[in-house]
Amino acid sequence: MRVLVVGGGGREHALCWKIAQSPKATKVWCAPGNAGIAGVVECVDIGAGDVEGLVRFAKEQRVDLTVVGPEEPLVKGLVDRLEEEGLRAFGPRKSAAELEGSKAFAKDLMQRYLIPTAGFRTFRRAEEARRYLETHDSYPLVLKADGLAAGKGVIICRNAQEALAALSTIMVDKRFGNAGDTLVIEDFLVGEEASIMAITDGTNILPLPSSQDHKALGEGDQGPNTGGMGAYSPAPVIDEAMMRQIERSILVPTIHAMKSEGRAFRGVLYCGLMITPGGPKVLEYNVRFGDPEAQVLLPRLDGDWLDVFTSAADGRLDQAAFSWDPRPAVCVVMASPGYPAKATTGAPIAGLDEEVADTVVFHGGTARDGDRIVTAGGRVLGVTGFGDSIAAARDRAYARVETIRFPGVHYRGDIGAKALDRLAKK
Ligand code: AMP
Ligand code: GLY
Repeated sequence: MRVLVVGGGGREHALCWKIAQSPKATKVWCAPGNAGIAGVVECVDIGAGDVEGLVRFAKEQRVDLTVVGPEEPLVKGLVDRLEEEGLRAFGPRKSAAELEGSKAFAKDLMQRYLIPTAGFRTFRRAEEARRYLETHDSYPLVLKADGLAAGKGVIICRNAQEALAALSTIMVDKRFGNAGDTLVIEDFLVGEEASIMAITDGTNILPLPSSQDHKALGEGDQGPNTGGMGAYSPAPVIDEAMMRQIERSILVPTIHAMKSEGRAFRGVLYCGLMITPGGPKVLEYNVRFGDPEAQVLLPRLDGDWLDVFTSAADGRLDQAAFSWDPRPAVCVVMASPGYPAKATTGAPIAGLDEEVADTVVFHGGTARDGDRIVTAGGRVLGVTGFGDSIAAARDRAYARVETIRFPGVHYRGDIGAKALDRLAKK
């Protein structure tokens, strides 16, 4: 099979690394890829948002399956365009990618299909939102720009003053562009966050093991939110019984709802959850693998991901064979100085060739500069470790992190700490 992977971050490195291991893969490309991906497959210089460029390439090269990493091309309709050309893709069509592309759409769907989520109101006019806030007296509240905002369009407000400022940021100053044309105001949920992803062909659902992201930049969840500073899988907060509840009350109803709406969802559905005392509730949907969650989940499949993706694209996921490696995985993200505001890049990275058993280094923002590999983005590397326990996997990951150096490198030292706390209390 000839396979094209779209994207150029750590998630896509993990995808390419796994797909290239499939005996069925005869040729694999990645657009645009990065310096690490270039070590496993052939990179082509087409941006992940260049829908027509990607379609042209897939046609010319007679690509058998396109696997889409990031949300932007999905929301822009890359899968629809590929299918129009008779090409096969793994990922949702534009109408199904709305689940991530519009928070107002997602909230409305959850409300109509009784899928547990925070209470909310949607506003299309700033004046109406302001009037609502002026009479509201229960805080914190969460204000969310409706559209795609690279994970930055969510503002948690402790009082009315902060909420009015956030309203202006989103709807008046348009900090997130058109994403702020519509505003969702949501109740604040208390609990522990975790993620459940599932592969689906629109009807059959294959839930993946649980994982947990670390969104904040600093240790102890302090500082600004990022795309994710680390992850581990499985997440002990989701035990067997909780998993069954999530399948029953969230995964199955969501896939059913999308099908009933004529928006059958094919691809990876990512449910960002808050595990509250009242049960699991949806914080957000994504329509793709999480990054860095993919860097702990993809390695844990004992089986052929290419088979799973192809079966999902063909609507016969029930026939895919696979099992999970029981060993936990922990991924630590190494970031550039200045991230997430404005990352400083171009620094040479040392120590990438040193081997540490049970680890793998996935490249995010890296580029080749002559014979050196240099930093080229905010999240530079995702270092994944495996072990018989989360503690052992974490120790492997940090042992590898310590062999890698670049100027101003920032990483959190507490990835996995919450899981270990929870396991210690059991
Ligand atoms: P989202 O992109 O909607 O997942 O929001 C980003 C982050 O904001 C989440 O991972 C949570 O940490 C936080 N968040 C979002 N919505 C809520 C909510 N209703 N209650 C508490 N925290 C929230
Ligand atoms: N790590 C969270 C995300 O990929 O959206």
